[in-house]
Amino acid sequence: QQPMIKLNNGISIPQLGLGVFQTQEGDETVNAVRWALQAGYRHIDTAKVYGNESSVGKGIAQSGIPRRDVFVTTKLWNEDIRSGRTRQAFEESLDRLNTDYIDLYLIHWPTEGWQKAWEDMEELYQDRRVRAIGVCNFEQHHLDELHALSSLKPAVNQIESSPIFVNQALIDYCQGELRTDVEVWSPLGGSGTHLLSNAELTAIGNKYGKSPAQVVIRWQLQRGVIVIPKSIHQDRIVQNLDVCDFELTEEQMMTISAMDTGQRVGADPDNFDF
Ligand code: A2P
Repeated sequence: QQPMIKLNNGISIPQLGLGVFQTQEGDETVNAVRWALQAGYRHIDTAKVYGNESSVGKGIAQSGIPRRDVFVTTKLWNEDIRSGRTRQAFEESLDRLNTDYIDLYLIHWPTEGWQKAWEDMEELYQDRRVRAIGVCNFEQHHLDELHALSSLKPAVNQIESSPIFVNQALIDYCQGELRTDVEVWSPLGGSGTHLLSNAELTAIGNKYGKSPAQVVIRWQLQRGVIVIPKSIHQDRIVQNLDVCDFELTEEQMMTISAMDTGQRVGADPDNFDF
């Protein structure tokens, strides 16, 4: 029932996962992960910098779902990239997550030193410590540089994309020749926007008995991207997975895409200072 995507190295990833950005270490994250897995999610997306890897590990353990049945993503943080600590940072993430492998390991931002970090991540991949490697927040020029440097194509590029900031040209570029799958962050427009009270989304949702959030998640799935909505509330976590029993029309897809403001909600990959 749950849609899967086959990455460019042949491994499968559930197209819908739980994101835990800004989910607090401790019960908040443990519960969100446990509720998600018990509701049927099999994909959790965290990062070292979120500060909640230990709780993600605990949530998986408490869910009763075997580790091997869960697709776990984490990310190499910028200070570790800049200081060339890829290997150590990776081992530290494994310890916190209480696991001995990562399904998908991502460079979090294209900060100084990412080229060396990619080499180190290739080694982790060759050594079978990670099932796939990829990047986040790479613009086309970063991808071109990576492509010139390495024959191993990133399995994934995780970027900002929502009806507010559709980012379609970059998605087309990734999904084209590179065969790099796109994961979208802030898929619901993030926490500071009013997207989910948009009247058009509400009207579309009413036709199917779905909420605006479910409509947006459905729009993301039909675009062929991997989507990782965040929530700390059990009812919303459950609701966000319940998007496989309706289909948006071409016209509805276009209506949603036309909400694009061209304005990012998050940081600019060509101009950030963290
Ligand atoms: P909360 O964690 O309090 O549920 P994004 O994934 O784009 O970053 O957006 C997530 C934001 O949307 C969070 O603030 C989250 O808040 C909220 N959210 C997630 N799912 C739903 C939902 N089904 N309905 C309403 N708000 C939601």
